[in-house]
Amino acid sequence: MVVSSSALPFDVADFLGSKAQYRAPAAGRMSRQELLDAVAGADALIALLRDRVDDELLDAGPGLRVVANCAVGYDNIDVAAATRRGIPVTNTPDVLTEATADFAFALLLAAARRVVEGDRWVRAGTWTGWEPGQLLGASVGGATLGIVGLGRIGQAVARRARGFGMDVIYAGPRDVAGAAELGARRATMNELLAGSDFVTLHCPLSPQTRHLIDAAALAKMRATAILVNTARGGCVDEAALARALEDGTIGGAGLDVFEREPQVHPELLTSERVVLAPHAGSATNATRAKMCEICACAVRDALSGRRPETVINPEIYR
Ligand code: DGY
Repeated sequence: MVVSSSALPFDVADFLGSKAQYRAPAAGRMSRQELLDAVAGADALIALLRDRVDDELLDAGPGLRVVANCAVGYDNIDVAAATRRGIPVTNTPDVLTEATADFAFALLLAAARRVVEGDRWVRAGTWTGWEPGQLLGASVGGATLGIVGLGRIGQAVARRARGFGMDVIYAGPRDVAGAAELGARRATMNELLAGSDFVTLHCPLSPQTRHLIDAAALAKMRATAILVNTARGGCVDEAALARALEDGTIGGAGLDVFEREPQVHPELLTSERVVLAPHAGSATNATRAKMCEICACAVRDALSGRRPETVINPEIYR
């Protein structure tokens, strides 16, 4: 039995055929308790990023032979706990790189050019016609973009930034091969914060990156700077960000991810300086179908005794 806590935009049952039965709710999602009950008899779990895969869940599913996470990020999974039990954990790299980079850029442009605010005006009928000083925003061409984490998605954002005529700097634990071809120069985190008109996060959430953008980091940013986060909500101290937007420490933000999804800090909900999206970075038809297909392949491989391609704890095979 293969379990997923929500219906997926991919026909897993058809893909697996007679290899395994598939169980997911027809609509809505399983509660934590329903998921714990469902994994009791399961061989495989297709985990969603809101499913906490921890000792409790792994104990509830003693027959699990694979956890296929339907996301590239896997901070929802206690990988060490799965490794201790010899369970392979997989993720979905590559297929969502371009979609997520597009979305980061969409948020950057929307926040810079106040697109959502303008949309609200027009719909509310409060727009009184063109004025020279109306809805002025930040220029993107010629501005400096600071990319935190020049991995696959960060690099895809750098390629877009180049097309927009931006200067690109990046911060991260090491020099990235190919950065120069992307026109990206490495900087320290402090240089990046102080020198960027736009800061975009593309790092995984880990103990090292939790609240990477806190009050101290925000204070180092330019008063006009715009923060974009399509990585993980926990990388930003949301309360500190709300304060920084309110008191003008920074200029704006475009956020796709939040510390306690689906909850959003109440002051962000009322701020005109922030564009909010519902964790939709990878939400294109093709990308989400591909992510699900990768999970289904991982399940098929693991249940057939093969090593799935995107395994993130390969040490279990040694
Ligand atoms: C991921 O894959 O980690 C995204 O957050 C969802 O696509």
